[in-house]
Parts: sequence; structure tokens; C-alpha cells
Amino acid sequence: MFSKESLFNSRNLPGQSSLVILFVCFFCLFVLVFFSERVVPFLSRPTLPALLLPTGLHLFSSNAICRYLFEVSGQECSEFCNQWLEWEATDLQLCLNCLYIGLYDPFCDLLPSFLIFSLLSLLFHFPVSFTGEHKSVNGWFDRVASIHSCLSAAQKVLQGKGLQGMKSYMQRQPAPQSSQGRNTQPCNCNPIEEGERAFSEEELEAAILNWSKGLSTSPLATDRQHPILPQEGKRNILVTSALPYVNNVPHLGNIIGCVLSADVFSRYGRLRGWNLLFVCGTDEYGTATENKAREEGLTPQLICDKYHAVHSSIYKWFQIDFDFFGRTTTEKQTEIAQDIFWRLHKNGFLVEDTVEQLRCEQCQRFLADRFVEGICPHCKYPEARGDQCDKCGRLINAVELREPQCKVCRQTPVIRSSKHLFLDLPKLETQLEQWLEKSTSTGDWTTNAKQITRSWLRDGLKPRCITRDLLWGTPVPHPDFKEKVFYVWFDAPIGYLSITANYTDEWEKWWKNPHQVELYNFMAKDNVPFHSVVFPCSLLGAQDNYTLVSHLVATEYLNYEDTKFSKSRGVGVFGDMAKDTGIPADVWRFYLLYVRPEGQDSAFSWADMALKNNSELLNNLGNFINRAGMFVTKFFEGCVPVMELQQEDKKLLALVGWELQQYIQLMDKVKIRDALKHILNISRHGNQYIQVNEPWKNIKGGDTERQRAGTVTGVSVNIACLLSVMLMPYMPEVSQTIRNQLNAPQSCVSTMLQGNGTFVCSLCAGHRIGTVSPLFQKLEADQIEALKKRFGGQQVFDGDKVRALKAQNAEKAVITAEVAKLLDLKKQLALAEGKSPEPAPQKGKKKK
Ligand code: 2FM
Ligand code: ZN
Repeated sequence: MFSKESLFNSRNLPGQSSLVILFVCFFCLFVLVFFSERVVPFLSRPTLPALLLPTGLHLFSSNAICRYLFEVSGQECSEFCNQWLEWEATDLQLCLNCLYIGLYDPFCDLLPSFLIFSLLSLLFHFPVSFTGEHKSVNGWFDRVASIHSCLSAAQKVLQGKGLQGMKSYMQRQPAPQSSQGRNTQPCNCNPIEEGERAFSEEELEAAILNWSKGLSTSPLATDRQHPILPQEGKRNILVTSALPYVNNVPHLGNIIGCVLSADVFSRYGRLRGWNLLFVCGTDEYGTATENKAREEGLTPQLICDKYHAVHSSIYKWFQIDFDFFGRTTTEKQTEIAQDIFWRLHKNGFLVEDTVEQLRCEQCQRFLADRFVEGICPHCKYPEARGDQCDKCGRLINAVELREPQCKVCRQTPVIRSSKHLFLDLPKLETQLEQWLEKSTSTGDWTTNAKQITRSWLRDGLKPRCITRDLLWGTPVPHPDFKEKVFYVWFDAPIGYLSITANYTDEWEKWWKNPHQVELYNFMAKDNVPFHSVVFPCSLLGAQDNYTLVSHLVATEYLNYEDTKFSKSRGVGVFGDMAKDTGIPADVWRFYLLYVRPEGQDSAFSWADMALKNNSELLNNLGNFINRAGMFVTKFFEGCVPVMELQQEDKKLLALVGWELQQYIQLMDKVKIRDALKHILNISRHGNQYIQVNEPWKNIKGGDTERQRAGTVTGVSVNIACLLSVMLMPYMPEVSQTIRNQLNAPQSCVSTMLQGNGTFVCSLCAGHRIGTVSPLFQKLEADQIEALKKRFGGQQVFDGDKVRALKAQNAEKAVITAEVAKLLDLKKQLALAEGKSPEPAPQKGKKKK
């Protein structure tokens, strides 16, 4: 696929040319940081394999080597490539500076460079040779190839999965972007660049003025008075999280997409002083619940009761602070859904049509999609479901299945016609478009939400069936459709209203009040069309002054390592397992929010989680807060010292204030992941400030030095207090712990998050802090390895493999080898879970 020659022949392919540049740049930098090979005899410092030119000169800089390689290959360095070189020389080099001052974990943001090594390692599989005077390039490639860590870095990224491994790796990385000319998103690992951010005299003055304002006297009311209702003159915000299906245990991807994102935003909104209500609940009707009930031998109601409790306890553990967590199987649901139905009917937005369906005469019922199985008409897969084929992925109409079977009794169903009701979407289309135009232009809809909606409209809307021949659902009240229930996607969003109605009788103040209420819907992208097209059409057609969504916030998907979460294969971490890992809920929250699939799919990775915990939480954030507090305790008997601000301190105040403002701007726009980076920036600035000013040395000096130690300590501990406030939506428990340790006044919260954000001195000279202790624990490599094994789904996968081999009548030796592997994996798994491994089954004991 790639060869060195082909790379150099890629004159018209900027993508490939830029790869050449990239790998050269990165590899040089990588080697520079991690290797101590002395390849250039006259250098006294360990350095990288340099490139020896025919002239006898050495080239060291990645930029220079790149340009040289372009030259010898006869290529012009395009504008695009120049951009990359520019980025390397500015942003990447600046990141490296962080390494040198020891504040920054190299694995953190330098990881993209490993990516390039992967490419490099791919290249090594191909023979190549430069001839003539450029022969030295060969030696240079070979020297790189012989560096063990370089190749192991490549393996780390590729994980033996070639480009696929690289792809999932890339999904976890922020896109490289030059910070030049970009003022809202600075390189987030670079204190030096930030330290050099220029502030005008006025900006410095403003920062000091804010600082000296101190705390406002009116603390934020902390206890919520229920029921929360819209109030005149307030920003009234209604937040919903997509209602999770009751029959599943949610996995990490479900949690970040809906409840966790909505929770962070709600917590933030409350801190901003908005009048906010956050509701959610379980989505309980439908075939999936009926199936689960059959599987577990329980009634659908009992299944709902059981799993509703499971969901509640998971969200409780994750500290999701709902104002109300309800469910859809309630009387209010029937009442409100039927009311909306009759309004649609009365207003002429429902049409009747006949649908062909499969019916099992033996079981006396129509077979909804998941109750029937047969041969896929497209790929001949024998176990295709009534709605989709799991093999070829095509959507199927159940009547198209060949040799269909009822999944319950295995009888062959018959085709029967049945009358159904359809929501007349084409008739509502113009009204919908007018509303969408306004909502998407004034509200904060994520890009994917707008795109998905647009693509639905572009294809033209078709009537949508809203009834089903099922038992477990909200009954259709129309006498001609007595046996039917509402289709879950008509019914479920009405759950938002009925759940609010179960919270307060005055629910209509939220849901029939579009002028006073702003509605935020949080969900994963697959839910978008139902929230942006179908449900709004139901509400528009019902004509009862409903509150429609103002801000539709949809995440992309979160993958698990480089695959999908799968309950059946045992792959991935599910909500109920997170607490068994021993990792605190706040750390889970932090990492999920750090990799929140905002703008593109992302992936959960154990190694990355450990990395972020150890570098960002432990070394950066925790380290800073702990040092600040410890200086107060150790050097000033627990009392905040007097601060006399110098120019350097004032610059820091301005810088921290700027980060705070970025945080607020991003949070206001629901850019939750991006806002988190600004919190981490602040602690990085703080660490550097402490590092440069060395209070531990100054405290031992004369009056001036001691004074300086006091100022630096006082400013730092105030930054720690600000951090605790900014962390509240993300890590509520850690935030509270910090405020307890600092004995921080309640009003610091409301003061600093008001308006555009104001960094004030909230712990004044003389303030006595509490007892300081470390906030985070290191995640050790062996611990992470064990967890990775435990949730990797290996066991199930290999079990499948053994069964498949048996089914294929594979040779006995092959099966035995696989069985041995499986048993070994089981043993490892048991050890990882802290159980004693079961003894291997006795040979010949189990008869078949
Ligand atoms: O995708 C899901 O998990 C659905 N249960 C979401 C429903 S959201 C709302 F419409 F209720
Ligand atoms: Zn049947």
C-alpha cells in the first residue's frame, strides 16, 4: 500500500505528502524526547538519529529534514504541507516545552505522534533504497526502524489492527489545529504560550478590579424548592434527557449521550442562577420489553419495575441529579398521549391505511418485528429479524422474510391485513419547516442534529404509522382500533410531559408555555429525527400551545476500545459494573466527559482513562490544588497570607479570568467537553506559577521573599477555590471535597459564575482553611490491565469460536487448543475479578 517511493511520488496528493512530513516531524520529536542515543559523535547531549547530508553536515530539526526530503525527492512543498510544518514548529514544539519543565505528561497530547510512527512502521515492511548521494536517507530510516520504543509506540497505536486500530486511536485525539490566529481554542497543554498571552493594561486593570470586588453578599440558594415552576423575569430552562429503554442496563455510551450530559448542563445552569427543571425516566413500553419479559419469565410490568430500579440505582451512583426520574407506564401517560391523539384526530392529521403483517394463528397475535425470524431476502442469512437482517444490515419488511417463523412457537405465520393509523407528516411539513427555521437559527442545535433533520426533510416526509398490534403499550382510544397500542416512538416523547405531570400537577406551566420556557433535549444522534421531526409534528398538529425544543443537543457515538459496546458479547462497561471497578464515580464522570463524543465519534479506552487520570487529574489538577492548600497549612499555619500583587500575579489573574470566560461561553453553548479543557488549563497555569515562584524556597528567605511566598500561596489557593467552583458540574463530589478542605464560603459559587464570569478573591487574607489531603489516586497499569481483560468480552468471543469450530466439525486438536485457550482466559478473568479460578473440568466427566 505505502512505500517510501510511492510517498515521494505523490506530487498531486497533498494527504500523502503531508503524511511524509508528519511522520518525519513527529518521529524526530519523539526520538528527541524519549531516546538517549548518541548518534552524532561531537554532541555531548543525548539526541536523535540525525540525518547526515552528503556535504558532511547533520540535520537535526524535523522541519529541516522534511524540507530536505522534499528537495531530494524533487517535490515542491505545497501550501498545505507548509501549514503542517508551521504547526509542528509552533504548537507541537510548544507542547514539548511543557515536557521539559516537567509539568506535563508526555503521553497526554503528544500521542498523535505515535500515530505517525504507526505509518512509519507500515512503511518498514517495504524494501526501499535511495541511491546516489541520497543514500544516507536509507541509513536514517534504518536507524529509526531499529529503535525499539519507536516500533512499540507504533504497535501501541495499531494494536495489531493496522489502519483500523489507528482509526479508533484517532477518534480519541483532538484534531491537530494550529493555534495561530485562533483565539478561543488555545493549545491546551501549553503554559508557556498561555503565559505569554498578551493582556492590555486595561485588561489587567479589569482583572484586578474583579479580584478585589470579593464575594457578593447574596449566596446562591442551595436547596431547591419543589415543585420547580417557571417564574416571571427568570431564565426558565427545562432540560430533558432521552428516556432510556427500561429493558437494558445502560452502557457508558448511553450514559454520556443522555443523562450525564444533561446532568452536567443542569448543574451548570443551576449554578448560573437559572430557574431550571431536569426530568427523565425510563421508556417502558414496546416489543423489547415484551421480549425481555418472556426471556426472564416475568410479566412486562414486573420487568419494568425491576429495571426501573436498576436504572435509578445506576444514575444515583453516577450522581445524576434529576429533579424527577419517572417512567412512561403511568396513568398520566395514557391521559396525555390519548389527549394528543384525539387532538391530532380532530385536527385532521391522522390517516388510516391497511398494512400487511404476519400473524401467528397459534399464538393469536400479530408478530411485531422482533417476534419473527426467517431467511433474509437479500443475503439469505437464516436468522434475520422481522425489521432488519443482522448479517447484511438491510432493513426488512417482515412480510418479505422467506420461511418466516414465530419466535415463540416456531409455527409459520400467515399474512393478514390490518388497519392502522398514520400521522400525516406531509400535511404538517410546511408548519414544521417554519418552526425549524426559527428554532435552529436561534437555538443551540448541534451540527449533527441540524444535518440529520435536514436530510429527513430533503427526502420529503411520509406518513408514519403510530399504532401497533401489541399488548404492552398505551392503548389507542379510538373504537376502531381497540386492540392496538401506540407505537413507542409516538408514545415515548410524550413521556417527557407525563413524567413532568407526575412531578407536578402544574406541568402545563412548563409544557404549554413556549414564550417563557426554553427546552433543551439531550440525546444520542440516533434519536434526533424523532425529536426534531416526528414529535414536534405531533405537538404542532395537536395545536395546544406546546413548548417545542429550543436546543437539540445530540452526541455522536462512544465506542468501547476499538469496537462497539455489546451486552451479548460481554464487551464494554455497563452502568452497573462501573462501581465494581473501585474507580470513584467522579473519575468516571471526568473521563466520560473528557472523551464526550462532541462533533465526532470517540472511544472509551482503559489505557487512555488511566493516562488522563494520572496526568490530568493526579499530576495536573490534584497536584496544584493540593500544593496550594499544603503551602497555606505548612507555611502559614492554615491561614491565607496577605497578598501584594506584582505584575506577574496580575497577568495570571487576567489569564485565569480569561480561561473562566472561555469556560462560561462554551458551557452556555453546551460544549461540555471543550469547556472542561479550560479547567485543566487553569491548573496548568497554576502549577507553572508555583514552579517559577518557588514559595518553598522563598519562605526560608528574608521579609521580601517571605512576602512573595505569601502572595503566591494566597493567589494559588484562590485559584484552587475557583477550580472547585468550575468543577461542580463535572465532579460534584471532588468539588465539594475541595471546598470543604478550603473551608470555602458558599457564596464563592454564585459570585464567580455570574455574568461573563469573574475571578474574585474569595479566600481573603486571614481566612482559615480546613484539612488538606490528596484528591486523586493513581491508576496502576496492572489494575487497568485486569479491568481491560475483565470487560473485553474475550471470554464470550472465544466461547463462540469453540462452538463454531465444533459446528464445522473441525479437527479435534484444533478444538482442544481453542478450549485450552478459553479455559486459560476464564482463569485470568477470575483472577482479574479477584475470585479463585474454578478448577478445570475433569476429562470425560461431562457427557453429551
Ligand atoms: O433510544 C432510546 O433509548 C429511547 N428509549 C429514547 C426515547 S427518548 C424519548 F423520546 F422518550
Ligand atoms: Zn407463534
